[in-house]
Amino acid sequence: MSLKEDLTQIKDQGLAEIAATDDLKALNDIRVSLLGKKGPITTALRGIRDLSPEERPQVGSYANTIRDELTTEIDARKQAIEAKELAQKLANETIDVTLPGNQVRQGQPHVIQQIIDEVVDLFIRMGYQVLVGPEVEEDKYNFEMMNLPKDHPARDMQDTFYLTDDILMRTQTSPMQARTLEKHNFEDGGLKMISPGIVYRRDTDDPTHSHQFHQIEGLVVDKNITMSDLKGTLATMIHEIFGTKFNYRLRPSYFPFTEPSVEVDVTCFNCMGKGCDVCKHTGWIEVLGAGMVHPNVLKMAGVDSDQFGGFAFGIGPDRFAMLKYGVSDIRDFYLDDVRFLNQFDRRG
Ligand code: DAH
Repeated sequence: MSLKEDLTQIKDQGLAEIAATDDLKALNDIRVSLLGKKGPITTALRGIRDLSPEERPQVGSYANTIRDELTTEIDARKQAIEAKELAQKLANETIDVTLPGNQVRQGQPHVIQQIIDEVVDLFIRMGYQVLVGPEVEEDKYNFEMMNLPKDHPARDMQDTFYLTDDILMRTQTSPMQARTLEKHNFEDGGLKMISPGIVYRRDTDDPTHSHQFHQIEGLVVDKNITMSDLKGTLATMIHEIFGTKFNYRLRPSYFPFTEPSVEVDVTCFNCMGKGCDVCKHTGWIEVLGAGMVHPNVLKMAGVDSDQFGGFAFGIGPDRFAMLKYGVSDIRDFYLDDVRFLNQFDRRG
């Protein structure tokens, strides 16, 4: 056989081996054995010197062509194997995103906070500003400027924790009325604010009383505010929070900082008005106090009570929560038992 035929055979065999391999390591072995120093092409090239001078360049260039062809084939095969391996790897590592993951239980705001958020959202929509006041309060704001001078008998109902003779844990959010009125510039227009927060009383705890609870104060002062504005505002709020199947009524009452004063009752959640133990057989549950701002409160804060007047209300969100969810003991809200609190996850 001629050297040229040898070379052609090496090429054909080499190409067949390259095409048959599926493995990078085996391919590398083929490359070494075909093109390496001890490989058949190198050996064949060495035989060139035995050829005639005319044949030498021809066969030499043929050998180089074959070497190039084999090199190109090996490279192409290498790329193909690598691409196949990558595709395989990607397929093996595919993640099924539809498989259920490990559930992490998320908490939710406390049920009373949920009620506060709902009420606050509503009043923001009605154009009220939201203010937060101090829980450690001066006697001056908590009582005196709310028309409860020292020795006023109504102070007894709100006996509290005094830190000094003049500083106490606030018994109500009403001091925020005095603080806001004092600062507000009525030349810029009227005032509409609500102020949610925690209050303290030295009450004996029982199913409807806790020594610490929440209130949301509301205050509107402007020209020409009437009691029907108060009634409309309260009706809007009650229907928004409880739904329209709950009715409400205003009862005459007394607060030192409003005149006239009312207490607002809502249909008893337990009997829906028929009368039961929860509502002491009245069919109603008291949820808030309200009234027309007493002129003394305005005067003490430096507001001209001949020109300006308004209404105020004090909501008990703890009572709202009891009513809305049929909880009969206020103390359950403060025990922080997640089995109880998780029932009020309203994110659905
Ligand atoms: N501060 C009163 C309380 O704690 C609640 C209240 C009643 C607030 C009437 C008001 C109001 O603003 O007008 O019992």
